[in-house]
Amino acid sequence: MDTISPVTQLHQEASAPRLQITSAKTLAESSNLTSIPSHYAFTTPTSGDQAVHADHDDSIPVIDFSLLSSSNPDQRSKAVSDLAKACQDWGIFMLINHGVPQSQMKATVDALMGFFDLTEEEKNKFLGKHVLDPIIYGTSFKASIDKVLLWRDFLKMMVHPKFHCPPKPEGLSEALAEYTGELRKLARELLKGISESLGLGPGYIDKAMNMDSSLQILAANLYPPCPQPELAMGLPSHSDYGLLTILMQNDIGGLQVNHGGKWVKVDPIPNAFVVNTADQLEIMSNGKYKSVLHRAVLNNKTTRISIPFSIGPSPNTVVVPAEQLVDGKHNQATYISMNYKDYLEFKQSRVLNKGLCPNQVKI
Ligand code: OGA
Ligand code: NI
Repeated sequence: MDTISPVTQLHQEASAPRLQITSAKTLAESSNLTSIPSHYAFTTPTSGDQAVHADHDDSIPVIDFSLLSSSNPDQRSKAVSDLAKACQDWGIFMLINHGVPQSQMKATVDALMGFFDLTEEEKNKFLGKHVLDPIIYGTSFKASIDKVLLWRDFLKMMVHPKFHCPPKPEGLSEALAEYTGELRKLARELLKGISESLGLGPGYIDKAMNMDSSLQILAANLYPPCPQPELAMGLPSHSDYGLLTILMQNDIGGLQVNHGGKWVKVDPIPNAFVVNTADQLEIMSNGKYKSVLHRAVLNNKTTRISIPFSIGPSPNTVVVPAEQLVDGKHNQATYISMNYKDYLEFKQSRVLNKGLCPNQVKI
């Protein structure tokens, strides 16, 4: 294996072969890179496949947040039923008129780009070992054990109930504190609409999931240009762990969603968020809203950044299907209950795209 400086020496078992892992950004910036190192290549092609654009008559739903917060009851109930349809049919939607100022969105993207521009030494202070570490920087998914590495660097921070953020670059912490504060309000409103759309009343999820101490994680995924995007992968097919994920991205496409067994390209809409259903929503809705599978593919021209904000229950909440969605005969509870913190640890201990977590397994 070629080693390109600077390299990250990851922790290895004493007897294991020493593996040197470079960030995707450093690799992409190394001169004369015309092909990817073999440990980034999947055996079957990744993005150069059959992914399609959504049909005109079955396109990714668009939800207008201003209607959801409207004081006009007809507008609100139409928005709630649109939300129900979006969650049930797609598990993903574009959110427009969300009220988060563009200036804050831009400041967040710029500040996180600035983090990835720090020296490897600076970033490596946050090389994480455990899923519940408050700040984790890394490459791939779990670079020390991934068989094939992903062309992706990432930073993950717990931003609620307690706010964590690296001290550098200057301004990052302020930008993220403001941005995540806005998203917290937005996500809670959305969850009220979703709770109502399940016939549970607007306050059910907030109360049952103990949202005052909700666990919220902000991540940034950096996908540098890749010389062979059809062989490497940004993030393979997976579902997210929380209730909802609200994703911001620069205007470079790459996200794909599984819909009706096909991979559909999610073309960015300027200033819109992409919202997707996640595992805890599937569990609490007793499978009415499925946690949608999605993945991120690469390109060979431009760096893509995506910034997902995951909102979940409080760490100690034991998530169970809502009683009203369980009825003895037709709709028995099909999920094993587990607290959210344990769920996160269990999910992280598995290979990214392999198998379901135990509480998604039918009883
Ligand atoms: C994720 C994710 C998609 C993207 O971080 O969980 O699905 O487009 N990201 O980067
Ligand atoms: Ni995801």
